[in-house]
Amino acid sequence: MSTPIDAQDEKGTIPTGSKGSTAMPVVVAVPKELAPGEQRVATVPEVVQKLTKLCLEVRVEHDAGTGAYYPDELFTAAGAKIVTSRTDLLDGARIVLRVQPPTVAEVDQLAGGTIVIGFMNATNNLEAVARMRDRRVTAFALELVPRITRAQSMDALSSQATAAGYTAAILGAGNCPKFLPMLTTAAGTIRPATVLILGAGVAGLMAIATAKRLGAIVEAYDVRRAAGEQVRSLGAKFLELEIDAESQGGYARELTPEEKAKEQQMVSAAVARADIVITTAAIPGRKAPLLITRETVATMRLGAVIVDLAAESGGNCELTQAGKTVHVHGITILGPQNLPSRVPFHSSQMYAKNLQSFLALLVDKEGAIAEEFTDEILVASLLVHAGEVLHRPTRELLSGVKP
Ligand code: NAI
Repeated sequence: MSTPIDAQDEKGTIPTGSKGSTAMPVVVAVPKELAPGEQRVATVPEVVQKLTKLCLEVRVEHDAGTGAYYPDELFTAAGAKIVTSRTDLLDGARIVLRVQPPTVAEVDQLAGGTIVIGFMNATNNLEAVARMRDRRVTAFALELVPRITRAQSMDALSSQATAAGYTAAILGAGNCPKFLPMLTTAAGTIRPATVLILGAGVAGLMAIATAKRLGAIVEAYDVRRAAGEQVRSLGAKFLELEIDAESQGGYARELTPEEKAKEQQMVSAAVARADIVITTAAIPGRKAPLLITRETVATMRLGAVIVDLAAESGGNCELTQAGKTVHVHGITILGPQNLPSRVPFHSSQMYAKNLQSFLALLVDKEGAIAEEFTDEILVASLLVHAGEVLHRPTRELLSGVKP
């Protein structure tokens, strides 16, 4: 993750082009998400109430919250204006709140100077980023918000990973032919299922907590040794390996070939004794590490289930297919995409609160947009501004793209 320094002046601040307080309220627009399968919405009625108290005018596109079970009437009651056409929604809007990155066509609907906030997945959306640059749209990418204590309330990666981890455990249980808890019944005693979690970041820890609550025996592994304490505090067993691959910013680094071989050996043994395996291992900006080979899958118990949360970034299991369910040797391998969207009510609620906290850095108590982006969180998450791409990896990728 780079620090965008190019557009900073000598004081280290970035002028926003805003002139402070004006008589007209700042309009915040919330479009309906159009990406296939996306059920979430970027704001919820409870947050609308808070934003209108800040003298902001909130416009919500008709049906934007329907998929997450927030009907238009609730938004109206909270003080938002429901708008039917996208043109009317964006007319005069200074800030646009989104979940998914805008498409090129959606960027073309935005006036220059509009501030868009949401997940941008920039390195995979180069065309839309280039269009925002050329149209002089300002974009804040929530995935670039630094993982510092002060930014916890706006950490959308964490809130959505929490939803994904919970849903993964439920999916695993729903596809497993066994009970998860131990049961002592008149028809005999049922042994508890064993759930293995690979990768104990935010999603992995939530999957552990959920599987524990369902009564399973839970084991977990992560390359960061610091994760061990958190795993044990949830009542799960931490599988130790003599590797500590914690790197910059608390994220994992890629393992050496020798480390990978040791890891594969230990992971294979744990996978073979599990009824459900939930994999969440990720390294920022890289393909997901391969933890479960096809040979390991062949050693698993009949009826075992793998839920591969890394499906979208290449998969932690060799046989995973993103967006599909694979059945092989009596094993079920799920490669779900966009898990937070399967619990859209609470995912949207948490995401909307993340955005509310983020907006508090950008808009003052009188509802005026800051004249300068001085806060380190704003500076770090500013992807595009004033005709420039400020995130170095994205900029470098863009400069390599042939016109
Ligand atoms: P992530 O989604 O980037 O990766 C998931 C997990 O996979 C990580 O725990 C990582 O160590 C693990 N992993 C990577 N390679 C692996 C391998 N070969 N085998 C097993 N596990 C592997 O992680 P996430 O959830 O985004 O968290 C990243 C870090 O940020 C963590 O240290 C977390 O504690 C920290 N964090 C800090 C916050 C704060 O202070 N505000 C908030 C949220 C997270």
